[in-house]
Amino acid sequence: LLRPPMPRPLAGKRVLITAGPTHEPIDPVRYIANRSSGKQGFAIAAAAQAAGAEVILVSGPVDLGDPQGVTVKHVESARQMLEQVRASLPVDIAIFAAAVADWRVASEGEQKLKKTAGSMPPLQLVENPDILATISKLTDQRPPLVIGFAAETEHLIDNAKSKLARKGCDWIVANDVSPATGVMGGDRNTVHLISRKNGESTGEIEVDSWPVMTKEQVATQLVARLVK
Ligand code: CTP
Ligand code: CA
Repeated sequence: LLRPPMPRPLAGKRVLITAGPTHEPIDPVRYIANRSSGKQGFAIAAAAQAAGAEVILVSGPVDLGDPQGVTVKHVESARQMLEQVRASLPVDIAIFAAAVADWRVASEGEQKLKKTAGSMPPLQLVENPDILATISKLTDQRPPLVIGFAAETEHLIDNAKSKLARKGCDWIVANDVSPATGVMGGDRNTVHLISRKNGESTGEIEVDSWPVMTKEQVATQLVARLVK
C-alpha cells in the first residue's frame, strides 16, 4: 500500500545536538562521570530527523543505539565534545542537551594510580570548556538558533533565567533533576521552555511550562516549536 509522503518541515535545515554524559579520565582505568542516560538528546535527534532535518548528534558514552538516519559522532570527554561540535559547524540550529562534566582532573595519570598505605591521591580538578557558551558567543559561525538545557535541583526557573543570560543562548529548556523526579536516567521529563519574546536578545523573558511527558513527547514538542 502506498502511504502519503510524511511532511518534512525541517527539510534543508542542519541541526546539531549534544547528548549524554561526558567521561573525564583520572587514569587509564578510572573516570569521572554523571547519571545522564542520553535519552532526551537522542529523542530530539530522532524527532528532528523525522521532521526532515539533517541531524548531527555528538554523544558522550551512552547505552543507546544510534538513531536511524542521523550522523552520530561518539566522544568521551568534554574537550572531545567541543572539538566535534566545532567540526560540525555551520548549522542552522544547535541544541545542547549533554550533561557535560564541569570539571576534569588536572593531569590524567599515565599509569593506574596505586594505593599507598596511609595516603589518598588528591584529585586536582580544573574547569572544562563550556561548549554551549563557546558556541553562543561565536562571532563568525554562531548558529541562528542556540538552545541550552538547565539541569537544576532547586530554584529551577530563576537559575535557568540567569543561565539564559550568562550563556548567551536563545532558549533554555529547564528541567528539575532532583533525585525524587527520576529524570536523570528515567523516561520522563518535566520541562519549562524559557525564551525571549520575539526572539530578541533584549526581549521580555517568556516561560512556557509543559506537563510531565515522556522524553519522546518532549522531543516532539520541541521540534514543533522549532518548526514554528
Ligand atoms: N554545558 C556545556 N558545556 C559545559 C557545561 C554545560 O555545553 N562545560 C551546557 C549543557 O549542555 C546545558 C547548559 O550548558 O545545555 C547548562 O548546563 P548546566 O550543567 O545546567 O549549567 P552550568 O553552566 O554547568 O552550571 P551548573 O552545573 O553549576 O548549574
Ligand atoms: Ca554543569
